[in-house]
Amino acid sequence: MKEKFEKTVNGGGKIYPYKGVWPEIAEDAFIAPGARIIGDVKIGNQSSIWFNCVLRGDVGKIRIGERSNVQDGSVLHVDSGGNDTIIGNDVLIGHMAMVHGTTIEDEGFVGFSAMTMDGSLIKKNGMLAAGSLLSPGKTVGEGEMWMGRPAKFVRELGESEFRALSKGAAKYVRTAIDYLDEYK
Ligand SMILES: CC(C)(COP(=O)(O)OP(=O)(O)OC[C@H]1O[C@@H](n2cnc3c(N)ncnc32)[C@H](O)[C@@H]1OP(=O)(O)O)[C@@H](O)C(=O)NCCC(=O)NCCS
Repeated sequence: MKEKFEKTVNGGGKIYPYKGVWPEIAEDAFIAPGARIIGDVKIGNQSSIWFNCVLRGDVGKIRIGERSNVQDGSVLHVDSGGNDTIIGNDVLIGHMAMVHGTTIEDEGFVGFSAMTMDGSLIKKNGMLAAGSLLSPGKTVGEGEMWMGRPAKFVRELGESEFRALSKGAAKYVRTAIDYLDEYK
């Protein structure tokens, strides 16, 4: 591949254009080696994209707010039918997740190996348990936990669980700062 179609950014990950549109990455976001980010993607301050993730904003757009993390091996894509992937602030997406045409509001949580399908929505402080499958068009309500394949409502989360979720995201911000210092 010619070099002009590939740039190394913020810690070692790579960005690529699609139809002339390049990803826009905040200067203090960490993009780990092996991560590949394509096309119409914007990533906000102190967010982190970990080793071997793919974020492909070609037939739609991907937006990631501030202090959110997308953990190792996850794939984020969009739906050509108009469902973009929009991630808010302080969101945690666990290892090997698949997020497709989904909106995740602030402080939302996607457990590792979970999948979200087109038109699904995770509202603020909503949690999708590890390994779950959120079917097309389904909504995890504010502060709710959903689990299983297909995922179903299990229970409301408690205050201590909200605190644990927000600590999880904050911890990733600190770890990402350390990596960025070491790798840039
Ligand atoms: C959902 C979760 C928080 C556990 O919730 P919990 O309410 O404490 O659940 P419990 O451990 O009390 O288990 C209750 C039941 O659900 C089952 N269960 C727990 N987690 C499950 C999951 N992810 N999927 C399916 N079933 C699950 C348990 O086996 C148990 O079943 P049983 O009643 O038949 O014994 C945890 O499984 C999880 O998904 N954590 C996220 C981890 C992660 O992805 N981190 C990101 C990377 S850092």
